[in-house]
Parts: sequence; structure tokens; C-alpha cells
Amino acid sequence: MRRNITAYLIILSGLSIFYFGSLYLVSRTSSNHTATSVSSSCYSVMHDSNDLDTHSLQDEAPNSIHEDDQQQSPDHTNNTPPSISSESTHHPPSSSSSKPPSQNESSTQHINTNTTLTSKRANAVIVILCRNNELNAMRRTLREFEDRFNRHFQYPYVFLNDENFTDVFQDAIKQMTTAKVEFGVVPESMWSVPSWVNTNKMNEQLADYQARGILYGGSLSYRHMCRFNSGFFYHHPLLASYDYYWRVEPGVHFYCDLDYDPFVFMQQNNKLYSFTVALEEIPATIPTLWEHTMRFAHAQGLNTTLLRMFANEQEGYNLCHFWSNFEIASLNLWRDERYQQYFEYLDSTGNFFYERWGDAIVHSLATGLFLEKAQVHFFKDIGYKHDNFAHCIDDGVLGKCMCPEDTPNFDYAWGSCLPTWDAFPENGVSWDFRPNGDQIIDKDRITHHPEFISSSL
Ligand SMILES: *[C@@H]1O[C@H](CO)[C@@H](O)[C@H](O)[C@H]1NC(C)=O
Ligand SMILES: *[C@@H]1O[C@H](CO)[C@@H](O)[C@H](O)[C@H]1NC(C)=O
Ligand SMILES: *[C@@H]1O[C@H](CO)[C@@H](O)[C@H](O)[C@H]1NC(C)=O
Ligand SMILES: *[C@@H]1O[C@H](CO)[C@@H](O)[C@H](O)[C@H]1NC(C)=O
Repeated sequence: MRRNITAYLIILSGLSIFYFGSLYLVSRTSSNHTATSVSSSCYSVMHDSNDLDTHSLQDEAPNSIHEDDQQQSPDHTNNTPPSISSESTHHPPSSSSSKPPSQNESSTQHINTNTTLTSKRANAVIVILCRNNELNAMRRTLREFEDRFNRHFQYPYVFLNDENFTDVFQDAIKQMTTAKVEFGVVPESMWSVPSWVNTNKMNEQLADYQARGILYGGSLSYRHMCRFNSGFFYHHPLLASYDYYWRVEPGVHFYCDLDYDPFVFMQQNNKLYSFTVALEEIPATIPTLWEHTMRFAHAQGLNTTLLRMFANEQEGYNLCHFWSNFEIASLNLWRDERYQQYFEYLDSTGNFFYERWGDAIVHSLATGLFLEKAQVHFFKDIGYKHDNFAHCIDDGVLGKCMCPEDTPNFDYAWGSCLPTWDAFPENGVSWDFRPNGDQIIDKDRITHHPEFISSSL
């Protein structure tokens, strides 16, 4: 059998473009054409019926070490998660940043994933934004997610939709899991065009994006989704009582048995954000996002250590971002006032609508602005696929993964930003911003940017 050589070819309205945060793509393979069609709400994928991967769905005997985990610890809400420490964001010794990083840092780093050290559970939830017509893709994903992970851990689900879920949808989902499931509607206040957006200009922009063939360029609901995922989901009433979330989308795949609790792992290791795939964005979706991010950083006088992974002062944003259709992260990271200010500033520009800013970019740049590298985790042991991008390393005949047969590992393929992540120094590179337009790199090199002088935002 011929293995697929996948050319990452995005065809849209006759144009070929590379990259995209949230995508639509057609993969050309030697054996078949797997077209992915996309809902504008959940950019999910409806795979062909002959699609892949049932080979990975064999049940394994439940691992006895998790039996304790199935009992909800009564004091789980007392496990206060780490907060973003503003103190901790400005101190990296600059000597370490000039040290050449090992190429394989993310694969050689020793991580203790033995979360059985405590039987504590995290105060966590699985969050899924989905539409009624995505039920089949959702069922497939949920079957895998349950088998690979949640049947042992019983974390609750919250399903969100911009309209009511049908009874059929709700009944079908409840067949898939014994965990608690809640279905909610996104309030209109989180899914509407704000008053300060000029709708004439917006409609012209949508038409222009559409005419240029930019992925989801003409879609208003896609923009609502990106704005909701950037600035609102963590305020949804059904998520109010939780500290951590795992974002799952209909159509994604999970390839490895997970025999530890990634939420407890995040909590015990002070991780606030995580990813499985990092890649480059379509530039046309974000013409002014970097400039606005710079304005914000200067106005706030931010001191950063991770932002340099995403940009430098001469060339600006390198388009790298963590792909947010997979996220295990702290809800309090986004509830934090500093992130809220960043979102509100971005939102005030109207460019979630005039341009087509993706939540993956906003989240990623926020990690750059507010976190250290050590607070972000690459889950290399969570085999994952969305559209035609897969993260899964063959762990051998004694391993726990069955990687997709139709999609190669994207980790070190062209367009992946995992090499950028690996190469970025563990202690970060300091890059500080001052309201007077100064930028201070590595604590001693100062450049002046008069275009970013600000009194306030
Ligand atoms: C990175 O990992 C690969 C595969 O494990 C290995 O062959 C290579 O030597 C490693 N490179 C470095 C710099 O450690
Ligand atoms: C995990 O930690 C527990 C408690 O210390 C220990 O009994 C168990 O052997 C450890 N498991 C592994 C795989 O190291
Ligand atoms: C959605 O469900 C709510 C609560 O059951 C109900 O009050 C409302 O009328 C429903 N909306 C629509 C459009 O059916
Ligand atoms: C950044 O560092 C400078 C110099 O140490 C300090 O005055 C400023 O308050 C810091 N900015 C923030 C947002 O913490």
C-alpha cells in the first residue's frame, strides 16, 4: 500500500494559499481525496465515510491506577490554580538566552507525568462549541476521546452552540459518555456585532475578503466564533465554576491512550497553556494585529520573555501560533484582567470583523505577552489530528499510540512552528516595552519606535 505523500495544498476559489489558523483544506493523497467541509461555527471536518482510524479504537482494559481518579475529590475546588505572576515575567538571565538551544528540547525534556502521586482531580471541564448538524463528526470524536481518555477520568462536558441543541443531538451525545454533560446556548451578547463596528464597512470588508478567496473571508459567523473564543467563552455561565478546560472540536481525532490526568499535570507543574500543533497563519487574516499588539505592549509597559518566539523588532510577527482547536489551559489565564484588557483593546479596533482575526493568534500572542515558556506545555504524548494536520509520533510496537495512516506527522514538516518552539530558550528572551516607544531587548539593547509612543490606549 502506498503511504500518502501529503502536499499541503489549500484550494479556495481557485486560489492556492498556504496556511491558516483555522482551515479549510483539501489534501491530495495518492489514494483518495479527503475533502474537508467546514461549518462556519466549529471549523470542523466532516471526513469521508471511508475515513481512517477505526484501527485505533480497540479498547484496552481500564488501567487500575485510575480507579481512584473516578471518585470526585470533595475538595477539588480548593486546588487553586497558579495565577499569572507578573513578577515572574521579567527576569530571565540574559546569558542563558544566548546559549544555543538543543534541537530536541521538547522531546528530551524530562516531564513527570505521574499524576497518580495524588488522587486529586483538577476542577476541569471539556468545552465543545458545536452545531446540531455536526453530530456525526462529534460522535466520532467523542468515541475516541472517551476511549483514549475520559472514560477513565469522567471529566464533565459543556457543549455550546449559538442556537439550542436539538433533543436528538443531546440524546446522542449522552449515549457516548457516562460523564456529566451540559448543553448551553451562547448568549447573543457574546455572538453579535458590537455597536462600535461600522456595519457598512464590515460588509464591504467581508465582500472583499470573499472576493480575494481568503479562507472563511466572507463568513460573519466565523468571525463571531473567533471573537467568542478569544474574548467570551471563559465567561460563559456554564464554565463559571471551573479552573481548567480542554477544548475539543467535532471531527478531531485522538490517537494515544492517555494514562495520566493532563489537568492535574498542568496544575502540578504550573502550566497555564498547552498545545499539540503549532503552525503559521495566513497573513491576509491579520494585517494589523501585530501593530495593535505592539501598541498594547507599549501602552502597558509590558515586560515579556516569550513574545520573542513569535516575532522580532525588525521583521514583526513570524505568523507562528499554537493551534487553538486543541487547548488544555487555565480559564483563569483568560479571566485575568491583563488578558481582558488585551482582548478589549483588540476588540475596540473592530478588526475581528473588518479583518479576520483568529482566536489562535490572539491566544498565542497573549501567551507571548503574559507567560513564560515554562508555563506553556507541548503535549507530545497526545496524538491529535485536525483537518490534515496530525501530531503523533510512532512510539513503537510497545507504545500506546496508533498514528493516522493517511497523514504524516506534521511536527517537523514545512510550515510547522514546533522547531521554533524547540529552539526558543527555556528561560526566554527578554523584550520589554515602554510607553515612550522604547523596546529593550535582552535587558541592554534599546531601540526606539516613535510609532508606538502612547499616552494611553
Ligand atoms: C534529535 O532527535 C533525533 C531523533 O530522536 C536524533 O536522531 C537527533 O540526533 C537529535 N538531535 C539532537 C540535536 O539531539
Ligand atoms: C507514580 O507514583 C506512585 C506514588 O508515588 C508510585 O507508587 C507509582 O509507582 C508511580 N508510577 C510510575 C509509573 O512511576
Ligand atoms: C431554546 O430553549 C429555551 C429553553 O428551553 C427556550 O426557552 C427557547 O424558546 C428555545 N429557543 C428556540 C429558538 O427554540
Ligand atoms: C516592567 O519593568 C519595568 C522596569 O523594571 C517596571 O518599571 C515596570 O513596572 C514593569 N512593567 C510591568 C507591566 O510590570
